[in-house]
Amino acid sequence: MNDERLLVQEVAPRDGLQIESKWVETADKIALIDGLSACGFTRIEAGSFVSPKAIPALRDGESVFKGIERQEGVIYVALVPNVKGAQRALDANADELNLVMSASQTHNRANMRMSCEASLEGFGDIVALAQGTKAMLNATVATAFGCPFEGHIDEDRVVSIVRAYRELGIDGITLADTTGMANPRQVARLVTRVLEQVPASALTLHFHNTRGLGLANVLAAYNAGARRFDAALGGLGGCPFAPGASGNICSEDLVNMCDEMGIPTGVDLQKLITLSRTLPALVGHDVPGQIAKAGRNCDLHPVPDYVRAI
Ligand code: COA
Ligand code: ZN
Repeated sequence: MNDERLLVQEVAPRDGLQIESKWVETADKIALIDGLSACGFTRIEAGSFVSPKAIPALRDGESVFKGIERQEGVIYVALVPNVKGAQRALDANADELNLVMSASQTHNRANMRMSCEASLEGFGDIVALAQGTKAMLNATVATAFGCPFEGHIDEDRVVSIVRAYRELGIDGITLADTTGMANPRQVARLVTRVLEQVPASALTLHFHNTRGLGLANVLAAYNAGARRFDAALGGLGGCPFAPGASGNICSEDLVNMCDEMGIPTGVDLQKLITLSRTLPALVGHDVPGQIAKAGRNCDLHPVPDYVRAI
């Protein structure tokens, strides 16, 4: 692996659509995921297998996973909250299960309706369930950089949750900033600590741009050695059980930054922009991403006649 390369995992079909109030048809979800596969992503979080009462927008997970055209070399991930979700995801042939628990007890109760201890116990059962299958496992520490209910989250607590995940036998780790409370210095500190336990190839950072610090946090994490980042087309996204939540960092804004800085991602920016421009019609509103509106640096404008005349 090129050690400069920044891996972008697309999460719009999951984090992006879970908070949308307008129902997105199954066929449109499938087309979105197939469109993302064609942009060069190697990882796409394609849906979740959670309670349909909790997240009605993603209640068609089985049909989505069945309908997508799987591209070789692309890992299709499913978010799961419990053993029931893990079984559904395995039955749907998800390549990877992303287990989620919050560092904050309060947010875990709001989001998963259980204590952190109960979540972890369930994760043990999921590890046992997945044994002997092809599915890979990743576990997310949500609210790792701050909680909208509890505020500050102790860094030692995050590090000890990461250790608990690894001791359960879960390889992949995600640190998630659920409501955009992280700042670049905090990110550098925590990434440095977690990279003492987890190789960069297994660590993902998941930032939301709620307070405008998304890409600054990416750079801080990258400079501290992180190489994998979640991002959502158009900057869609947010947790419906976290007050004040708003979109993920925007995939095309991230890829544009990397292109301009000479950091390889393997993602085709022009295709991504074209796909992103279909989002307002799909979700029924404007989306936060900036590059799809502004164009790339190289998308120049014609010189006006009056300027030519001078
Ligand atoms: N998939 C489908 N249905 C599920 C399910 C799953 N993974 N887990 C539970 N259910 C169903 C149960 O079968 C039960 O159905 P019934 O009412 O028809 O009998 C119902 O949901 C309640 O089950 P219970 O185990 O008591 O769940 P709960 O109400 O305590 O909720 C979670 C717990 C984890 C299922 C729910 O809070 C959840 O899905 N949270 C995820 C939220 C989310 O996706 N947040 C954003 C991503 S981080
Ligand atoms: Zn998120």
